Amino acid sequence: MTAEVDRPEAASSGPGGAPSSPHGPAPSSPHGPAPSPWHHRHLLDVDVLSRAEIELVMRTTDEMRDVLARPIPKVPALRGTSVTILFYEASTRTRVSFEVAAKNLSADVVNIAAASSSVSKGESLVDTVRTIEALGADMLVMRHGVSGAPYLAAEVFGGAVLNGGDGWHAHPSQALLDLYTLRSRLPGGSLEGRKVVILGDVLHSRVARSNVWTLTAMGADLWLCAPSTLLRGFEAWGSRGAAGRRFTVTSDVGAALRDADVVMALRIQRERMASGLLPSLREYAARYGLTQERLRAASPDVIVMHPGPMNEGVEIAADVAVDPRSVITDQVTNGVAVRMALLYLLAGAHGRGSEA
Ligand code: CP
Repeated sequence: MTAEVDRPEAASSGPGGAPSSPHGPAPSSPHGPAPSPWHHRHLLDVDVLSRAEIELVMRTTDEMRDVLARPIPKVPALRGTSVTILFYEASTRTRVSFEVAAKNLSADVVNIAAASSSVSKGESLVDTVRTIEALGADMLVMRHGVSGAPYLAAEVFGGAVLNGGDGWHAHPSQALLDLYTLRSRLPGGSLEGRKVVILGDVLHSRVARSNVWTLTAMGADLWLCAPSTLLRGFEAWGSRGAAGRRFTVTSDVGAALRDADVVMALRIQRERMASGLLPSLREYAARYGLTQERLRAASPDVIVMHPGPMNEGVEIAADVAVDPRSVITDQVTNGVAVRMALLYLLAGAHGRGSEA
């Protein structure tokens, strides 16, 4: 990537170490640039982010929201940067919002659907990533059905890798947009002590795994609720009470929803489901589906979330999805601003030669 004054590497060190605005360069200090608080070259999961780094993503997202409020929501921050979007799995929200985000930052965007690429002729992930780099990519956004695939890509790719979801493992940009959406809705913008319930197919959910990290890091009292077959492996986390984080695992949907401040429903991932985990979708909906009746146990101001895609009538009733307390469309909208922030921060780190 080449350096320009309006590119993030030139603009990422405002006074006090805060990144300057994506709208233009930072005022220069007589002592030279302050160290940037963002040190990560890749974003593979949220578990490497400190609370201060999460706060930085939130603040940068606020700036991107300002950009998006303009009549022409475009800034030159990533001009001259090539972003390749490589998805081996289906996606609407993540793929489109990364594309819109990169274009809003004036990046050059290349979209590759694995099914129509040489992957279908047997090309390996490593060869595909090397080819993409040889074609000029600076940043690679990828989704893969195998947990850990973006970590392998990051080993061979010379630029920045952003994980758009890998297997059951992680979905970092989703967790950050969920957090941003919650903070913008909760009084005072704080999750401290708030009861947040993730209800549904936790076992197969990369969204749940990443959200566990960010929500507990920000002080939420997090509950995971599902039939016991869809909580395997998580019970141990709950009983250990990880390092001061508040974390409960239960199959008792009544106890989970009681006085909840936030309920996030998760899709039943039939494509990942081994036989025998659920008797039937109908039974799941009857016992665990998020209905108006069940929601009455929650706080009257409960915030309803779903990362999408939804199966209405299974994990969430259609009238709950469109309830005034639902922020599901806000989650989608905020996805663009959060992904703009992530591209901006990572481009800056890459420009400074970060190895983290
Ligand atoms: N939430 C989410 O990852 O949605 P997509 O699969 O549509 O990207």
